Amino acid sequence: MDVASFNRQLQDLQDRAVASIAAADSPAALEAIESAMLGRKGELKGLLGGIGQLPAEDRPKVGALANPVRTAIEQALAERRVGLEADALDARLRAEAEDVTLPGRPRWRGSLHPLRETEREIARVFGQFGFVVVDSPEVESDELNFEALNIPADHPSRDLWDTIYVREPVGRESDERLLLRTHTSPGQIRAMRGSEPPIRVLTPGRCYRYEAVDASHGFEFFQIEGLMVDEGTTLAHLRGLLDAFAHALFGADRATRFRPGYYPFTEPSVAFDIGCVVCEGEGCPACKRSGWMTILGAGMVHPVVLRNGGIDPERYQGFAFGMGTDRIAMLRYAITDIRAFLADDMRFLERL
Ligand code: DAH
Repeated sequence: MDVASFNRQLQDLQDRAVASIAAADSPAALEAIESAMLGRKGELKGLLGGIGQLPAEDRPKVGALANPVRTAIEQALAERRVGLEADALDARLRAEAEDVTLPGRPRWRGSLHPLRETEREIARVFGQFGFVVVDSPEVESDELNFEALNIPADHPSRDLWDTIYVREPVGRESDERLLLRTHTSPGQIRAMRGSEPPIRVLTPGRCYRYEAVDASHGFEFFQIEGLMVDEGTTLAHLRGLLDAFAHALFGADRATRFRPGYYPFTEPSVAFDIGCVVCEGEGCPACKRSGWMTILGAGMVHPVVLRNGGIDPERYQGFAFGMGTDRIAMLRYAITDIRAFLADDMRFLERL
């Protein structure tokens, strides 16, 4: 052995150590390499153990050659450790990465109540014919809810419409009996008294009746009233308008018909039917096997009612109609229980 041979072996040791450090893929592997090369029983120690065979003056030379080898291996270990840590961090970041390009969860923004949506749709259709929506109060006078509409105190139809009284007269002259309106028809009187013909209005809103509640009756429900007053207004205009309405809401092929009806505030009065939306006219339980469904009441405004509204029946004619918003919405959405509308059940509201 001479110095040159030690030098070759040291270089070989360094090359092998550096190559295996570069290939190591874990801190544990580095640990093993470190102890195999530089440890107390490692290769470097073993190699230097042979130094005794050299002449005394050569030994420091080998020592001087060994030091940079040790340093180079230590440095390679340190660098590889840092490299492995960075790889591990990279891998973790990749594994735990959030995809920020995924769309966020949409926020629940709410929606129109099916009754409101139906009301707006009806108003939109009649709006195309020049009808405007006006408000009319829910607390109404006996006079406007009944008397002015040609329903005197002893009229039998009051029995059907008995209602919830808010205030009974206590005898003073200015006293009025107040009640929760049983229909939106008092809106007709208010519209006639509040403006001049031509009049085309809709008065939508809540109505109340002293009613036994079931799947098709609520004590609180919704109507939309329509009124047109002008010179030369006829039943044919009413028919054309209601046909257009039925076709807009229930399809252009929907069959329609007028049947004779009775209301104290119209003469003549009609019931307006559409072909059953369930069986398309075949006959089914929903239409009581008739093939028809009544969706509203209507007629030519009674001359007495025109006069009560301050309108001259010799000069003007009018027609009026009234429909249950709940009923229309039930047909539109195939809802079978009217109580669902006001039950505040989110499952019902979200499904529509
Ligand atoms: N007010 C009626 C009701 O509550 C509905 C109605 C029928 C209104 C005929 C009208 C009409 O304007 O002409 O049942």
